[in-house]
Amino acid sequence: MKESHEDGQVPMHVPLSRPWFDEEEPRAAAEVVRSGWLISGPVVEEFERRFGSRLGGVEAVAVNSGSSALLVALAALGVGPGDEVLVPDMTFVSTATAAMFLGARPVFVDINLQNYCLDPKDAERKITPRTKVIIPVHYAGHAADMDEIIELARRNGLRVLEDAAESHLALYRGGAYTGTIGDVGIFSFTPSKPMTTGEGGMIVTPDPDLAARCRLLRNFGDTEKFRWEMLGFNFRMPEVMGAIGLAQLDKLDRAVTLRRAVAARYTEALRDEEAVILPTLRTPDDGNYQLYTIRLRLERLALDRDAVIRALEARGVGARLYYPPLHLQGVFARDGDRPRDDEFPNAMTFDRTALSLPIFPMLSAAEQEYVIAVLRDILRAHRRQP
Ligand SMILES: Cc1ncc(COP(=O)(O)O)c(C=O)c1O
Repeated sequence: MKESHEDGQVPMHVPLSRPWFDEEEPRAAAEVVRSGWLISGPVVEEFERRFGSRLGGVEAVAVNSGSSALLVALAALGVGPGDEVLVPDMTFVSTATAAMFLGARPVFVDINLQNYCLDPKDAERKITPRTKVIIPVHYAGHAADMDEIIELARRNGLRVLEDAAESHLALYRGGAYTGTIGDVGIFSFTPSKPMTTGEGGMIVTPDPDLAARCRLLRNFGDTEKFRWEMLGFNFRMPEVMGAIGLAQLDKLDRAVTLRRAVAARYTEALRDEEAVILPTLRTPDDGNYQLYTIRLRLERLALDRDAVIRALEARGVGARLYYPPLHLQGVFARDGDRPRDDEFPNAMTFDRTALSLPIFPMLSAAEQEYVIAVLRDILRAHRRQP
């Protein structure tokens, strides 16, 4: 017989994310292997065409990861030594390291506490004559404040690279798809994303010349067969990944709809929890809920955030902070120096209080109710009266 807790919950194991595969992914991957055509073939071309058209008819260039996509996009925008690139303090490390590989310097910008994306006002304070690109990250699949960012970029002659690694099909103010609003956007297809190819990435842009530069850069700068006129990378997406990507793209709308339904249930169930601050989006479509990120009101709790994560994990519920602030990371320290924490008050608050709960399309109702019950149980057992 299974052990059960005092609240009657039978223990379960609910991971933070789980990819959604059916029969089509292995079938399509096996067909590519049998064909013997493994790189630079028709399957990735078809994936690019269909991904670009699903986002409203943009150019799409497939690469082998979201991080490669960032590097290629920055190189295509002409970023080089001495340039500065504005990056939110709260993102995955490669949003910032991409600039460093090109000899440029990432300059960190605080986030806001509404959508957890880059704060345009702080970005304005950090602009110098060397600033070349601003990278809004649509954190957790929440659309960043694109009107303000585009306007800031226009006034200061900056290019806009959207890091849409997490925001497939998330809309900005119910209008354009995130990733298609700036000069260029990038997506990631790692297994926790709304669609996956294992590893994989895509660059999208309305600008055919920029797309052409990206195509050269991902393939050794090879202008004709074995003619190398520019410095390039080997960042091509293999055909097997393209085949899996096509199968996942067919399900992407359903995957995002299911994620939104899971998020709506969390929001309804946790609305009255005094110790929880829920994610707030301008419209429900502004998010694809790649992550469901809550913050804790620590003044209402006798536990800190890490203790809450540990308590969730002890009962089989995956929970994690995405991500620690970048300005604290050793890789960005210059001569042992790093920016001061008080330049990033919101990122520091987020770092102390945020955690993400399990969310993926096939999360069952029973699994979700278990997550909710365990979280409530922990919060109630450690409540602190104001
Ligand atoms: C915001 C953000 N940027 C960049 C990346 C890098 O993508 P990849 O892991 O595909 O290289 C990720 C994903 O891991 C991400 O979440």
